[in-house]
Amino acid sequence: MDHKKLETLLHDMTLREKIGQVFQISGQLLAEDSAAMGPMQEMGVTQEDVLLAGTVLGVFGAEKICKIQKEYMEHHPHHIPLIFMLDVINGYRTVYPIPLAQGASFLPELSGKCAQMAAREAAAAGLHVTFSPMTDLVRDARWGRVMESTGEDVYLNGQFAKAMTGGYQGEDLAGEETLGACVKHFAGYGAPDAGRDYNTVQLTERTFREYYLPAYQAAVDAGVALVMTSFNTVNDIPATVNKKLMREILRDEMGFDGVLISDFGAIGETVAHGLSSDRADAARRALEAGVDIDMMSGVYPEKLEQLIRGGKVSEDLLDEAVMRILELKNKLGLFENPFKGADPEKEKTVILCEEHRALAREAAERSFVLLKNDGAFLPLKKGEKVALIGPYVSRKQLLGGWSFLGDAEDTVTVEEAARKLAPEWEFIFAKGCPVLDPGTKLVGFGSCEENEDEDQDAMWKAACDAAREADKVVLFLGEHFLQTGEATSRGILELPQIQQKLLREITAINPDTAVVLFNGRPLDLRVVNENAKAILEAWMPGTEGGPALIRTLTGASEPSGRLPMSFPYCVGQVPVHYDEFPTGRPYHAPDENRFLSKYLDIPNQPLYPFGYGMGYTTFSVSEVDLDREEMTRGESVTAKVTVRNTGDRPGTDVIQLYLHDVAASVVRPVKQMKGYQRITLEPGEETEVAFEIREEMLRFYTADGTWDSEPGVFEVMIGESSATESKKSFLLR
Ligand code: BGC
Repeated sequence: MDHKKLETLLHDMTLREKIGQVFQISGQLLAEDSAAMGPMQEMGVTQEDVLLAGTVLGVFGAEKICKIQKEYMEHHPHHIPLIFMLDVINGYRTVYPIPLAQGASFLPELSGKCAQMAAREAAAAGLHVTFSPMTDLVRDARWGRVMESTGEDVYLNGQFAKAMTGGYQGEDLAGEETLGACVKHFAGYGAPDAGRDYNTVQLTERTFREYYLPAYQAAVDAGVALVMTSFNTVNDIPATVNKKLMREILRDEMGFDGVLISDFGAIGETVAHGLSSDRADAARRALEAGVDIDMMSGVYPEKLEQLIRGGKVSEDLLDEAVMRILELKNKLGLFENPFKGADPEKEKTVILCEEHRALAREAAERSFVLLKNDGAFLPLKKGEKVALIGPYVSRKQLLGGWSFLGDAEDTVTVEEAARKLAPEWEFIFAKGCPVLDPGTKLVGFGSCEENEDEDQDAMWKAACDAAREADKVVLFLGEHFLQTGEATSRGILELPQIQQKLLREITAINPDTAVVLFNGRPLDLRVVNENAKAILEAWMPGTEGGPALIRTLTGASEPSGRLPMSFPYCVGQVPVHYDEFPTGRPYHAPDENRFLSKYLDIPNQPLYPFGYGMGYTTFSVSEVDLDREEMTRGESVTAKVTVRNTGDRPGTDVIQLYLHDVAASVVRPVKQMKGYQRITLEPGEETEVAFEIREEMLRFYTADGTWDSEPGVFEVMIGESSATESKKSFLLR
């Protein structure tokens, strides 16, 4: 439909119809005799409002969506189609690893392919928009939603934001296999005080702009169709009604011209924040801030008519929002084909097809991070008798907290994969203990106890017997999947006590033990590190997690992931991230000086730093070599290292480039990643890895607030993780 026709359509719509477009409803409300209508009625939302709503959250399935769309359009005075939206986060039915795990792959292009696969399945199931990617920068492992982000690094997050957006949206939003993407949560949601979800966010303007905005910007630059607001305040004003943030920063500065949707109920919540005086005030503020769609707080349908008729809000603001929504419907091709990709037949064939499972398996394999491997403990050697012990051995729930469309029944477990894929090994399987300590209550989640009728003593004894009998043990431990995701902040970052006890007891029986971890956040791994010979971080690996793990443990695949977030020594260090600012009193262990920036009881360094990870072979990285010692703007410096595979297996390494501006008009981080390269080498093979350093890579928010570089000395560090210290300097003239 051309723009003129959209304008005519808008012009012909009544006020109620227009208000309908900016109102998003839950799919349940469209079902007949819906019980969910109760709470909405209390908010003043009528059945008529529901029938005029412009977008729907939470319905899926081609047949159902086509039926709703048809009936809705027949009833609608202008036959405007609905947009169906849903959180398709790490897969639709074929579930690939959680976003934090994807970050660990350092392979944004692979995440792009996964997003494309998710879009193919979800579009066949009738959906039009996904609320992904979440590109919030995260530094605090207490926050449960770190699992939905790709981690703590500005550069890496930007790469993933771009790739995922491109993967979902493809070349053409109207295509039958694409989804509109929605980058979230704008802005700064990943920095809640004390890691507590929904909590206050206080960031200096410079930190906000330099660290937190770039990944959203990357998605905007990639043409993301929607942006979602965040629940938090940003410097004392709730983001959702923050006019400066939404109009000046997001639209004018960042150039976003798509649809801005609130987070779930977030407009109404600005009353509880103590900013909006009541729901009418909240509606006015959100519309003035340029929020086009009210997700589920009902304040737009309840209050806008009265505000506009009373002259409190200009109808032009509403028209502006409605036009953006109509434009999105147009870009999605819904005026021509309101059913878009919905296809019940294709839905059956495409979902969980072998091609999709293979991609999910590859993504899982690439996300695993080998944290420790004493004496080349892994991979397991053929012929070894191995006890696979722990609550995750036969667990189907490997999908993570946001995969509510993924069905755990589709998951191939570790045990199933071991039986099928590794006939040359003799395995013994034992659960040992449940995931959670008995009696654990996760507030708001109901009962998390599983298999309460299992004989705990027998389970424990079988695990000990298995450990005794085996040459080697692999323990499969982790968080409960409901301990990560939204509203799952934690103050203690250890494995459940019962699992720690199992680890201690099993390693006392058989010290030849490796640990595989399933978790959605960095954990305090001191106990694991002390007791296990090898540690493999497997995150929440998805539908094909079992096969990916067995292939990795037996050496058919090599772990090549790198940590996208620092793993703290303990919770007392959190938030801990590699790109910190230097202090005036830097501490380098084992300096005995009292007055340095340090703790008395724990180290400054995290247990495992950002960018860290091992493979099954070893590499040497030479000193950094620069082709010149000075450069002017417009020139570049080439930094090189020689990397050699010093082990006896082929292997992959991720070589990372870090820069440090030694003295500037504001203090600069001790290092910042500016590039990385993945290389694969045969035993004994070596290669040169070169990075071109251009002046744009040296820019930052200077003391006068401009985005620029400043002349001076820069240090160049290249190595296998953020802990690398090998450096050379050059001068920017
Ligand atoms: C979450 C969003 C999500 C939305 C819709 C909210 O609670 O914060 O990330 O997209 O619900 O499900």
